[in-house]
Amino acid sequence: MVWSLQSLSELSDTEFERWGKLLEERAGIYMGDQQRVFLQTQVTMRMRELDFERYSDYLEYILDGVSGMLEWTRLIDRLVVKETSFFRHKESIDFIARHLADRLMNSNSDDAFELWSVGCSTGEEPYSLAMVINDAYQWVNKDPLYGITATDISRAALSLAKNGVYNDRKLERLNETYCKRYFTQLDDGKYQIISSLRDRICFHQGNILNIAEMPVVKVDVIYCQNLLIYFKKWLRESIMNAFVERLKPGGVLVIGLGEVVDWSHPKMKRLSAEEVQAYVHI
Ligand SMILES: C[S@@+](CC[C@H](N)C(=O)[O-])C[C@H]1O[C@@H](n2cnc3c(N)ncnc32)[C@H](O)[C@@H]1O
Repeated sequence: MVWSLQSLSELSDTEFERWGKLLEERAGIYMGDQQRVFLQTQVTMRMRELDFERYSDYLEYILDGVSGMLEWTRLIDRLVVKETSFFRHKESIDFIARHLADRLMNSNSDDAFELWSVGCSTGEEPYSLAMVINDAYQWVNKDPLYGITATDISRAALSLAKNGVYNDRKLERLNETYCKRYFTQLDDGKYQIISSLRDRICFHQGNILNIAEMPVVKVDVIYCQNLLIYFKKWLRESIMNAFVERLKPGGVLVIGLGEVVDWSHPKMKRLSAEEVQAYVHI
């Protein structure tokens, strides 16, 4: 029988612990027992592709040098959950639109509006934000002056995000006006985000655990949803604290509803918005 068709043995408790520790240390992601089968499936698939027979040999390979680092970036692409959609949490996106419209109507500042989408996956989140931001500038009849930085640990996700090409199923939740205004249909039937919107977004690879090394200047909005949930409580809080240092005064932090509980910070005030978990920098 060809080796690749043979089944690999199950991850032992010790091996599962070692792989889990690596994932948590390097990406913050905590794998409980429920994710054991998923972890084993993804690791064994990659091992088959590279002709490794033993988990320990593959782990040693990953821990060793530049080739190990490259392999790690491939494996992590398979281990992270990249699920996302346009306007995934509409209440939060609408909240950003209202926040910007208020600012444009009530301030004479000509400063650019800067937003950071953390854990942007394949781009649907930052593009949805770009759509409502662009609309807000149109409502007040001002030239759009904004930039979005979008970061993710997964290079595969970012490469799709940069292209901004989606099939019609992905556009199902979008209203027709957005489809017409912000997409062009390609010859193969797929849809691409128009270039004037794509050009507003700078996609970068970045592990949020290395936030101190990330080249993001202070921003008006940090938008981070469905990422912190994969981390332990202490890590969620430590990342929230680091976000505070990346916000301009008056800046806003929006996370997924209930993703962090009982967090407070002397420089941040929780905003009372229904169905949205947002804090303003005071
Ligand atoms: C479930 S998706 C959420 C996407 C989007 N924010 C949304 O709410 O639809 C989580 C994303 O976080 C990314 N991610 C996981 N761990 C990360 C880390 N340590 N640093 C940066 N991004 C990470 C994954 O690659 C994935 O694209």
